[in-house]
Amino acid sequence: MALYSEKVMDHFRNPRNVGVIEDADGVGQVGNAKCGDIMKMYLKIEDDIITDVKFETFGCGSAIASSSMATEMIKGKPVEEAMKLTNKAVAEALDGLPAYKMHCSVLAEEAIQAALEDYKAKK
Ligand code: FES
Repeated sequence: MALYSEKVMDHFRNPRNVGVIEDADGVGQVGNAKCGDIMKMYLKIEDDIITDVKFETFGCGSAIASSSMATEMIKGKPVEEAMKLTNKAVAEALDGLPAYKMHCSVLAEEAIQAALEDYKAKK
């Protein structure tokens, strides 16, 4: 069996929503101390709906694929729904990650949570 699913490879090679939102309503940055990877999420929110989301990931392929998939999963969704996005759901949407790469999807969950917290704090 291939180590990485087609979906992981696709999101790694063609990541969706890469970039920066200059006037973001919420920004969150997290890192993993062990591998040194960093992920930053930018959210644009109108009437508690996530209208746009962009990310920058300085990290491994699984982290890039996870952030790409996670942005797709929360775009157009209400804030409350995005709050509930788990790394498990992200990994499942990617048709799975190797066990030792699950922490990469945790970064995506945490970066989104951090950006949403930032948005709530600013409100
Ligand atoms: Fe660090 Fe994947 S190895 S996020």
